[in-house]
Amino acid sequence: MSKHINSSRRQFLQHSMLGAAAAAFPGLLLAGNGKMNRTATPGFIADVEIEFAAQAAQVNIFNSGPATQVQKFIATLRKGPPNTLTQLPGNYLGPILNFQQGQKVRVFFNNNLKEPSIIHWHGLHVPQHSDGHPMYSINTGEQFVYEFEVLNRAGTSFYHSHSHNLTAEQVYRGLAGLIVVNDGDEAKLELPGGEYDLPLVIQDRSFDSQNQLQYLHAMPERIMGFLGSNILVNGKPNAEFSVKSRAYRFRAANGSNSRIYKLGWEDGTPLTAIGTDAGLLAKPETRPYIMLAPGERVDLWLDFSGRKAGSQLTLYSLPYSGVMPGMYDRMHKDGGGMGMMHSRLPQGGKFPIAVFKVSEKVSDSPKLPEKLVSFQRLTERDVDNAANPLPIAISMQHMKPLLNGKSFAMDRVMDFEKVALGSIKKIKIFHDHDSAGQHSGGMGMMGGMQHGDNEHNGESGDHKMGGMGGMGGMGGMGGMGGMGGGMMMEMAHPIHLHGQQYQILSRNAAKVKPADYATVKDGFIDSGWKDTVLVMPGETVEIVKPFQDYKGLFLYHCHNLEHEDLGMMRQFYIG
Ligand code: C2O
Ligand code: CU
Repeated sequence: MSKHINSSRRQFLQHSMLGAAAAAFPGLLLAGNGKMNRTATPGFIADVEIEFAAQAAQVNIFNSGPATQVQKFIATLRKGPPNTLTQLPGNYLGPILNFQQGQKVRVFFNNNLKEPSIIHWHGLHVPQHSDGHPMYSINTGEQFVYEFEVLNRAGTSFYHSHSHNLTAEQVYRGLAGLIVVNDGDEAKLELPGGEYDLPLVIQDRSFDSQNQLQYLHAMPERIMGFLGSNILVNGKPNAEFSVKSRAYRFRAANGSNSRIYKLGWEDGTPLTAIGTDAGLLAKPETRPYIMLAPGERVDLWLDFSGRKAGSQLTLYSLPYSGVMPGMYDRMHKDGGGMGMMHSRLPQGGKFPIAVFKVSEKVSDSPKLPEKLVSFQRLTERDVDNAANPLPIAISMQHMKPLLNGKSFAMDRVMDFEKVALGSIKKIKIFHDHDSAGQHSGGMGMMGGMQHGDNEHNGESGDHKMGGMGGMGGMGGMGGMGGMGGGMMMEMAHPIHLHGQQYQILSRNAAKVKPADYATVKDGFIDSGWKDTVLVMPGETVEIVKPFQDYKGLFLYHCHNLEHEDLGMMRQFYIG
């Protein structure tokens, strides 16, 4: 049986590997004149060509008061089906990109900002050169050309800027948008389409009295992740949808920097998902609530059938606990010292996201299909390293969140981060705070897993982690005594891997506080394809990921964007 996951592999891949080979040693390229800006490849015949720009803009987010200064992706279609771009008027979000599986896409990206930028197509499986790796960041006035074939099956993805150290603030200021991929299998399902297929991009922002975006760079902020005081849906506050009494498809995406949502209806009606991240599920999943961490998407089937015209229903983020470091929850309960914790909406608090007003009674509605799409369910038998999973160890050292004991370095790959092209690997994502506290760099577990670290890296010196020592910069936050080592800073992290979608093999929550876990566990949908997974403090998540089609450097990182910019990012070299 073929273990190849994508059925639509084309000749094109051969061609794109040349690009990957040239960039196989980015360190060398970076040491040159840094000219990595791609130009159009004559042999690549694009079905779709889009001219993209990142630029400063003013948009009316609020109905009254001054316009807001934002950074915005603007796009014009040069070639391709006229419905390729759906513009969201009066918005900082870029247009929705509507792609068909199999299309060849060329994007001319122009950076009109006063700072470097690059776009990553989060969820799409594209060659290294078109994946928005930060090494490709371009400067003001420069152009970068992306070329890729849409290999993905139908699903929802999310493009955003990915320039290292600038990602969090650029996404915050607006540089993001939704990608919709359609395919033939999906078309057969006759899911709600057109006006019944809508985006639900959820973000939190803070504004000053002049409607200007506030972003804070102070250390407690960055280490916890930025939490805004206003919830925006599709770029607007106080979101309201006028709906008919029938079924809708809402493509929810968490485009927040660090806020985690627990989506649920006010009246306790369960929620039904038909897709997770970039893929449709095998069958719908109905849950009392659905967790949505930064970078995650969930395709919701929201059915208003049977509801009265004039009635309304509010989608909430429901309360949960345990994702933040112990001191955060504790300080919230005490209500003390929260001034510096910045948000009127605490992580895990209850607040409304959007109101759905049933404006019209209709008699007809599509029926929820019992089965959606079929795909191979990956198991341990499909991997070549069942007993020796690739590690993604989460730890914290000197107020820096790390992966595998290291910070991101543009041109570094550790031995065990080199993966054979075409292989399918088991990957174990776990918290390694114990060894971070006792050893240097949290690499203690690595030896046990037979992964050598041949990289010389000054960061894993012999400093003692010392949770308390590391907290020196957070003076003024009282009430933290009694928690030792890295455990004190243990928090939930949404772990995102670039490249192909993966599947969740298992979760082990034995070390998670049961009372906390009970508030989130029913909201994890692990039966489909994923590219981002929320890992609770103490939790271990095993995934199966194919590394097919493209050679080169593919990032893995925390999608808490403050963490990502703090260096909680590494990369695989597929070769
Ligand atoms: Cu959505 Cu590497 O990011
Ligand atoms: Cu994180």
